[in-house]
Amino acid sequence: MFAGKGGVGKTSIASATGVKAAEAGHKTLIMSLDIAHSLSDVFALDKGLTDKNRGMPVKVGDRLWIQELDINEEIQSNWGDVHRYIASLFNTSGLDEILAEELAILPGMEEVSSLLYINRYAQEGDFELIILDCAPTGESLRFISIPTTLEWYIRKIFKIERRVVSYIRPLARRFYEVPLPEDDYFRALKDLFVRLEGIDKILTDPAVTTVRLVTNPEKMVLKETQRIFLYFSLYKMCVDAVVMNRILPANLEEKYFDDWKESQKRYLKLAEEYFSPVPIFSVNLFKNEPLGAESLKKLGANIYGEHDPTQHFFTEKSYEFHHEDGQFLIRIRLPFLTKEEVELNRLPEEIVIRIGGFKRHILLPRYVATYKDVKAKIDGNHLNIIFGGKKDGKQKT
Ligand SMILES: Nc1ncnc2c1ncn2[C@@H]1O[C@H](COP(=O)(O)OP(=O)(O)O)[C@@H](O)[C@H]1O
Ligand SMILES: [Mg+2]
Repeated sequence: MFAGKGGVGKTSIASATGVKAAEAGHKTLIMSLDIAHSLSDVFALDKGLTDKNRGMPVKVGDRLWIQELDINEEIQSNWGDVHRYIASLFNTSGLDEILAEELAILPGMEEVSSLLYINRYAQEGDFELIILDCAPTGESLRFISIPTTLEWYIRKIFKIERRVVSYIRPLARRFYEVPLPEDDYFRALKDLFVRLEGIDKILTDPAVTTVRLVTNPEKMVLKETQRIFLYFSLYKMCVDAVVMNRILPANLEEKYFDDWKESQKRYLKLAEEYFSPVPIFSVNLFKNEPLGAESLKKLGANIYGEHDPTQHFFTEKSYEFHHEDGQFLIRIRLPFLTKEEVELNRLPEEIVIRIGGFKRHILLPRYVATYKDVKAKIDGNHLNIIFGGKKDGKQKT
């Protein structure tokens, strides 16, 4: 997965990685997760070609495909009943039909559609390598939070909601204008959940999926890269490399860029301190935009040199669970976290970690739910969440 701030070079680096991997013999798919698709531009393809293909993979070279989803197609094939229900909701509230249809594209539908593809490709082994070209930070964080949100939704809400609706539907019909979801809606949702099963394991296993953060040697970009590193780790994803893009070549004669070269050197050094032991790959600013297969090949060589781009460069797990001496410990590798910004919230069967405006629910194993105390400690690059003080069953909660 190639992620990072907008404009840092994610699509270019992801594409160059794909070109290099395909050349090394791997059957590779590059999939765009950014609604503002730009893969076909980078590969200098005629847009008409990808449009005609209705969001299915397009072959761009030996062993190499790109895919840019078409949300309208996805709605037809994956979201029929869910979409129909939501559109009918908007419709009854007086919106005209076309607008209701448009509005019923929920945030997250694109991301879930991509997850469905990834899951299918992974289960069926269609490709040896799938490269995900992410949207800018915010949206890609929503993307990685979807599997756990779904798990939570199924466990906590889905069952109850469905039962309640089936009880109240006969009554509600008589009193309300707003339609309640029919069984089709729940069946469609359930079907989606089933097709997403296992995707969280695929994304969070460092032996299967790794994240490469693309960044530039500039203050604000580096800062955002640290945040995204933290959030990806919170979602159990393994960052295996940082790609530092747009380094001015050392042999550049032009005096005008001297200050830039100096500051880039400083930020590069800083980045090494920040992200170590995760390796950093430096990439030069090219003379022009790397577009088309030949240029991407050069870019690929500049990023990885002799390395195989499909290799995992760092594989440490971000989560560990320990159970000993009447204590249960969740240890999460969260570099760049400070004590002030982390907030823990204990609920009966889960723990909610809140960092800034971002939160993650961690569902607890049943036996841990019986521990009454919980504390958090920052230990270097790790956050330790410690559960202790087993309940004897009589104590108040
Ligand atoms: N190393 C580089 N040298 C020169 N131009 C680059 C380099 N990396 C990216 N670009 C150019 O910068 C622009 C943004 O890159 P892009 O890959 O689309 O970024 P993102 O996907 O992160 O928004 C594009 O015009 C791209 O061709
Ligand atoms: Mg892009």
